[in-house]
Order: sequence, then C-alpha cells, then structure tokens
Amino acid sequence: MKVFTPFESGDLRVKNRIVRSATAEAMAEEGFVTSELIELYKKLAEGGTGMIVTGYMFVSDDGKAMPKMTGISRDEFVKGLKNLVEEVKKVDKEVFFVAQIAHAGRQTLISPPVAPSAVYDPSINVMPRELTKEEIERIIEDFKNAVLRAEKAGFDAVQLHCAHGYLLSEFLSPHTNRRKDEYGDGVKVVLEIIERAREKSKLPILVKMNAHDFIPGGLELKDSIKIAKRLNDFVSAIEVSGGMYESNYHNRYNVVSQKVHKSGEAYFAKYAIEIKKEVSVPVIAVGGIRSIEVAEKLLESVDLIAMSRPLIRDPYLPRHWNKSDCISCNRCLNAVAVGEKLRCYKNDNF
Ligand SMILES: Cc1cc2nc3c(=O)[nH]c(=O)nc-3n(C[C@H](O)[C@H](O)[C@H](O)COP(=O)(O)O)c2cc1C
Repeated sequence: MKVFTPFESGDLRVKNRIVRSATAEAMAEEGFVTSELIELYKKLAEGGTGMIVTGYMFVSDDGKAMPKMTGISRDEFVKGLKNLVEEVKKVDKEVFFVAQIAHAGRQTLISPPVAPSAVYDPSINVMPRELTKEEIERIIEDFKNAVLRAEKAGFDAVQLHCAHGYLLSEFLSPHTNRRKDEYGDGVKVVLEIIERAREKSKLPILVKMNAHDFIPGGLELKDSIKIAKRLNDFVSAIEVSGGMYESNYHNRYNVVSQKVHKSGEAYFAKYAIEIKKEVSVPVIAVGGIRSIEVAEKLLESVDLIAMSRPLIRDPYLPRHWNKSDCISCNRCLNAVAVGEKLRCYKNDNF
C-alpha cells in the first residue's frame, strides 16, 4: 500500500506518506509548552503518523493569532520545545517532527492587527494597519530567529505558514497586498526569510500555501503556480491548501476546513495535483482526506497526504485506517479559536 511506503527526497525522510497537518492546540501557557501539549504529540507519534506538523507558533510577541498559542518568539521558549521534541522522539525516533511558524497579520483579535496593506477584514470586523518597511524587516528577522530556535529545540524542519490569510499569506495574496514598494512582491518576503535563515542553518524549510483564496481579487491557481515555481529551489516541500478568514465571509462556509459531506473528499486535491505538475519539490495535499482509498489514489499524483481533523478525532487512525469517522462538525475549530484545548468535541452535548 502506497500510504505506508517510506518517502525520501532531498532533506526529507518520512517513514510513510501520512502527514498530520498543522493544527492549533490551544494548550500553551503564556506561550510555554505544557505537559498536555506533550501528551497530544506523543499520542500522534504512537499512532503512526510519519510527519507531524505542530500547530502554528507565534514568531513575534505582537503577532499572536489566538489564545494559548505556543511561542517561538523568544529564547526562553526553547527549553520547553526541546523537551517536547525529546519526548516525541522517545516514542518514535523516526517521526519527522516539524514546527509550524507564523505571524497572525490581520487575522487576530488579541494582537495589533497589521498587514501588507490596510485592507478591511469583514469576517472579524478588523481594519489592520499597513506595516512600514522597518516593521517588515523586523518580522523577517523574527521568522529567521524562530527557524534557529526550532533547530536548537531539535525539530527536523520548520514549516512557514504562508496559507489561510495569516501574515505571509497576506503578502502572497493580491487582495491583501497592494503595496507599491518592493514588498508588493510578497514572495520576496518569504525568500528573504529563507535566505537569512540559510546563512546560519541548514534546517529544512517547508511551506504551506494557498492555491486559491476564494475571494474576489484574491490569489488564484495561476498565481499560486507562479509562486510555487519561485519557491521550488528554496523549500523542501509545499503543502497546498486554500482560503482565509475573509473567504468564509464571501462563501458563507469555512473554506479552509470544509464540511466533507458537502464538498466531497480531498476538496483541494485538484490544486495540489496542478501545482505538482509544475514543480520538482515534493507536494503535500491537504483538505478533506478521509479514506485510505482516496489517499492511495491521490498518492499517484502527489507525494504525501495530510490530515488535521481525522487525527483530532483519532490520533491512532494510521494504525487501522480505512475511513475516518470525523464528521467535519468543526466544533474542534470553534473550541481552539476561543482558547479551549484541542480535542474532538463531536459527542459533547451543547
Ligand atoms: C482545530 C483546527 C486547528 C487548525 N490549526 C491550523 C494551524 O495551526 N495551522 C495550519 O496551517 N492549519 C490549521 N488548520 C487547518 C488544517 O491544518 C487543515 O488544513 C484543514 O483542517 C483541512 O484538513 P482536514 O480536512 O484534514 O481537517 C486547523 C484546522 C483545525 C480543524
């Protein structure tokens, strides 16, 4: 079965094709790793997932997206992160453990909202302030330092969160980036982060990016193909997703985490397949993958498949995977958004 075939390419070595897509945990205390967070990741490692990507960690103290997010913005966070990595590696030394790093941009109710351009987000009623060039410089440094801290902590790689409308995604989207200076080319910001990190570190760098924003005037496949091609030589893998908060406002449903019974399985697969045709770097598909049958078929066209909600429902899914019984109720998502810890809320009475 292809799902359980090891994968090796460049600096990636994964024992199977199953990726736990980044999933916010709402389990940190003041940004510090807690024992609860460690338990969550130990279970995922025990469950047999080959590559585990953490929930997004804030790279800047003023760039937090939600309460109880894990921090990687200061050296004092490294000790806890190192402990997390060590504990997970004790369970399975082969697990490929990736730290996802992010800046909230305009998608925040707990930090000062900032963005490449001052474009209103009607989904959360936020008007961000346009970043100055000096501030962009500082944030690039923050990302670079976060990469170095992830390496110190022992992670196997980092993933730059360039999807879902957070700051780097806002730089890549023509809807949210209307700048006339050099940062009007949003890829430049991402490449600068990588270039600076590379001066001090060889840690593999992956990206998760949108293939489509699903917003009038937003990023579309033709744009994301160009972006992926420019990133191709500098990243270790590209995970292909779509949507941002504002997309929910325009479409009246959660675009990132869609209801699979309505959208169908693997709802972003066609984008991952199109991007894969244009790049040589490994491509990871995500979004509504629920059955091993669909995963196997998809692996004929992409390199790895990622899941979030099915592994919240059951971190041991890879051990007995046929079809996930996650019903995409998205109660998990609503919970972490307000700082309630990550777990499956399907059977809770509301
Ligand atoms: C509770 C929850 C938290 C999430 N947190 C993140 C995150 O921190 N970073 C990220 O890139 N995506 C995040 N996502 C999106 C998922 O990684 C994934 O792209 C999306 O849910 C679709 O995959 P699925 O159908 O397998 O859940 C989150 C999704 C859920 C449900």
